[in-house]
Amino acid sequence: MISAVGSKKNILDLPFYNCISDIFESKEVQKLGDFTHHIYTTRLQHSLNVAYYNYIICNFFGFNAVSAARAGLMHDLFYYNRKERIKHKGEKSHCAHHPVLAVENAREAFDLNILEQDIIVKHMWPMTLKLPKYKESYVIVFVDKYCAILEILSPKYQKIKKRITKNKVQIST
Ligand SMILES: [Fe+2]
Ligand SMILES: [Fe+2]
Repeated sequence: MISAVGSKKNILDLPFYNCISDIFESKEVQKLGDFTHHIYTTRLQHSLNVAYYNYIICNFFGFNAVSAARAGLMHDLFYYNRKERIKHKGEKSHCAHHPVLAVENAREAFDLNILEQDIIVKHMWPMTLKLPKYKESYVIVFVDKYCAILEILSPKYQKIKKRITKNKVQIST
């Protein structure tokens, strides 16, 4: 079963998956599973989380949910660990650099429309300065941060839940 953080639904059974399956199953995206992201998860899981919540929110508001999901899956398509990155002279900070790298990698591997490219390039706004052009690009700015918070808090929440359950069992025995 594959699910997004904070959700118990099997993603493979959802219409959402039909929108992203070709990209998700590609070697370029699967490779993201080799990289740790937000301490406790992988870049692949984070990308899936962002794609999923992008889709849910854009679908709710009648925005382009398919492009939002696809771009969400590709928004962090880069292959280095943030802490190991060697910053060359004239290169921007990681926050401003990786969205450009991600869109270049995505364009090389897949067909992207203008909306999807804007979603990827602007996902770190306001750190990337240029204003997002589309509503869906503003959605990812929020969703990316929301997922990061869930990913960082989720293992701690699981530990607390385990402790509470353990205590309950001890009390009742
Ligand atoms: Fe990012
Ligand atoms: Fe991200």
